[in-house]
Amino acid sequence: MTMPDISFQRSRPDVYGDAHPKALLRAIQEDGDYLIQLANQHIVSGDQFDQQTMKQLFRLAAKIESNPKRFHTPLRNKILISAFYEPSTRTRLSFESAWHRLGGDIMSITDRSTTGIAKGEGLADVAEMFNNYGDCVVLRDNCNYSLYEMMDSLRIPIINAGNGTDEHPTQALADLYAIFKWRSDLLSNSVSNKIRVGVIGVPNKMRTVRSFLKCLSVFAHVVDEVVVVHDESSEQELFAEGQREELEQRGLVISTSHQLNAVLPTLDVVYINAISWEGDSFHTYGGQFHLTAASPLKPDAIILHPLARGEELSTDLDHTPHNWYFSQARGAVFIRMALLTCMVERTEHVIDVV
Ligand code: CP
Repeated sequence: MTMPDISFQRSRPDVYGDAHPKALLRAIQEDGDYLIQLANQHIVSGDQFDQQTMKQLFRLAAKIESNPKRFHTPLRNKILISAFYEPSTRTRLSFESAWHRLGGDIMSITDRSTTGIAKGEGLADVAEMFNNYGDCVVLRDNCNYSLYEMMDSLRIPIINAGNGTDEHPTQALADLYAIFKWRSDLLSNSVSNKIRVGVIGVPNKMRTVRSFLKCLSVFAHVVDEVVVVHDESSEQELFAEGQREELEQRGLVISTSHQLNAVLPTLDVVYINAISWEGDSFHTYGGQFHLTAASPLKPDAIILHPLARGEELSTDLDHTPHNWYFSQARGAVFIRMALLTCMVERTEHVIDVV
């Protein structure tokens, strides 16, 4: 038997996005007050982030990403309860990686049937117990409401890591962190070159898209237009009641299209997602939409995808400069490191000016 090539290049860049976001650091002046107030709230929705708080989170994430060796200990003696009751590669592992990298300890539950829930225990009681065992909870659940059933009993913060079809707010932070690393000039006071964003997905069904649009709308002044590309089958259910109107009231200009290749040459950011977790399994939308290296993309357009990928995103894009989806996933560790530090009242360990 011939031996396969077992060598690998440790130095090969893993992403096309910039892993040393100096420009983003320079674009935002540090102001710890916005971060300190995060310790007094749960993280449930993209709605709760204002522009200044997001900018400060991006700045802190960039500071950690630029020099991760400086941040080994901020969460020493803190315990994370990582409760993931629905499949996850990126969110669970990046939250746990973030916590470990900051020096904290973790208790992980990946199957609710190993807890008292299997014996009929209510979520409020589970939450009451969590207060005694950990300092922060990260929850993924296929039910939209579990998060809210636990919140009243909790005296420690809970972070929504994806609740059914509803929201995935920390994914949205990672999405915008990638965009502002790509174009830190968008954070300046006067933006001359606004971006046109394409969303290939169903905002009413996909929690990643819902949270992304909420957070993007906070920066509506840098967005020329959002074009939602969808197939005809999702025409009636594209937006939830009032969803589009709310985004438009916040300043986003939104149009829709069925013609992916007709709009692609006009887009600066292409956000694609094809799946939605509904109940106990996932559903695929927009099966006819595919991005490949042959797609008519602007030469400097970036592609974002929350992943997991399916046939909609060809692997032949992985080795092109359009690939910012790996940078987006990589940056999620640093944005979560920034957020977690603030959630457990350790902000003063990581900022220079309090
Ligand atoms: N982006 C995201 O939520 O991926 P996972 O389902 O792997 O966590």
